[in-house]
Amino acid sequence: MRGKRILLIVGGGIAAYKSCELVRLIRKAGMSVTSVLTDGGAHFVTPMTLAALSENRVFTSLWDLKDEVEMGHIQLSRQADLIVVCPATANLMAKMAQGIADDLATTLLLATDKPVLAAPAMNVRMWQHCATQRNVAQLRQDGVIVIEPDEGEMACGEFGPGRLPEPEAIVDAILEQFRAVPLTARDALAGQEKRPSTSSAQSDAALAGKHIIVTAGPTHEPIDPVRVIANRSSGKQGFAIAAALAGLGARVTLIAGPVSLASPPAVDRIDVETAREMDEAVQRALPADAAVLVAAVADWRVDPSPRKFKKTEGPPPLAWSENPDVLLGLAGSADRPKLLVGFAAETHAVIQLAKAKREKKNCDWIVANDVSGDVMGGDQNSIHLITADGVESWERLPKEEVASRLAARIARYLSQKQDK
Ligand code: CTP
Repeated sequence: MRGKRILLIVGGGIAAYKSCELVRLIRKAGMSVTSVLTDGGAHFVTPMTLAALSENRVFTSLWDLKDEVEMGHIQLSRQADLIVVCPATANLMAKMAQGIADDLATTLLLATDKPVLAAPAMNVRMWQHCATQRNVAQLRQDGVIVIEPDEGEMACGEFGPGRLPEPEAIVDAILEQFRAVPLTARDALAGQEKRPSTSSAQSDAALAGKHIIVTAGPTHEPIDPVRVIANRSSGKQGFAIAAALAGLGARVTLIAGPVSLASPPAVDRIDVETAREMDEAVQRALPADAAVLVAAVADWRVDPSPRKFKKTEGPPPLAWSENPDVLLGLAGSADRPKLLVGFAAETHAVIQLAKAKREKKNCDWIVANDVSGDVMGGDQNSIHLITADGVESWERLPKEEVASRLAARIARYLSQKQDK
């Protein structure tokens, strides 16, 4: 990452003061910073502060660019390796989403051909307003990386999502952009192998050298030679996660229940049918750096009859026994992966039940989703990520996008663990 150039656009919000610490940390990570202050931003931090911290010029207006004959704003927007908007206010994001260019910052954002990362910060109501959410969704669709704001007490005294993430987390997100290889889960699922094949490119990937186990799909528990106990899991979310992790360079072992999905490229797939087979396959795949258990595993099985039950015999006499809990088994294993991610599909009290499940299953994160609608089998998912730090609610997204974001989070978590 050394030598990378960041163009930092500081918007006009109280969180602008944190951009000073951000400049310090970016430089500490070996990158250079050129700052652009909006009119609003200049009410919170001075050009002098940013210039002193970045040891670089600070631009505040289009007319700072001495030689506009040479199209200085175009040059400035393209000299950087990454443009970071911090804080990204509701107003700034609205302009970005609409392509408005009425000052230096927005002109640069419109003129750039470089990736843009936005760190939003605003009052909770402004963040939750449908106009802001629409703009964020539009920006993401346009390829802007919009990181999730933190949840907590705000400068205005209210509580909720909208706080600027800590500068350390923003630097992590910046570093992630330089580490990640340009493969999305969507590309991988579409079978477009974009992963660089040279070993040097691979060793640069965010999850290079990491082994990750993913379980996906339903399990089938036989009742007799023709009937099974099944559930509605399609496996799409788990397969998308396996694809996204492989896209970031991980060695992925995908343990799949009975699904009708093609294997994502560059993934080792093991097909199983029952919960017990899934449990054994997971144990055999250890050790691993992380495990993401997406499968909807049947909690109960019956002793299958060797011959078909006949209708004339009446309702089959089923003797139930409990299946092994794959997640609980991993959590208690001597080989417990550093990061254990469980899923919680709930139809009511989603967050409350998922928080309890995280404790009960002794896993690090729970990805909770409300399956009372058409999530099972559908292409979209709206999830809550529950960690030791709290709850993050993501907007409804295509399953591939949920997978990409989760994979990026896993990469960040594992790299932080490694640094410690
Ligand atoms: N899980 C598992 N093995 C099982 C049951 C569940 O590994 N026998 C995993 C799932 O893959 C998921 C998490 O545990 O990651 C939660 O699954 P869920 O079915 O929601 O949990 P249960 O403990 O079965 O709770 P519930 O009573 O809600 O079914």
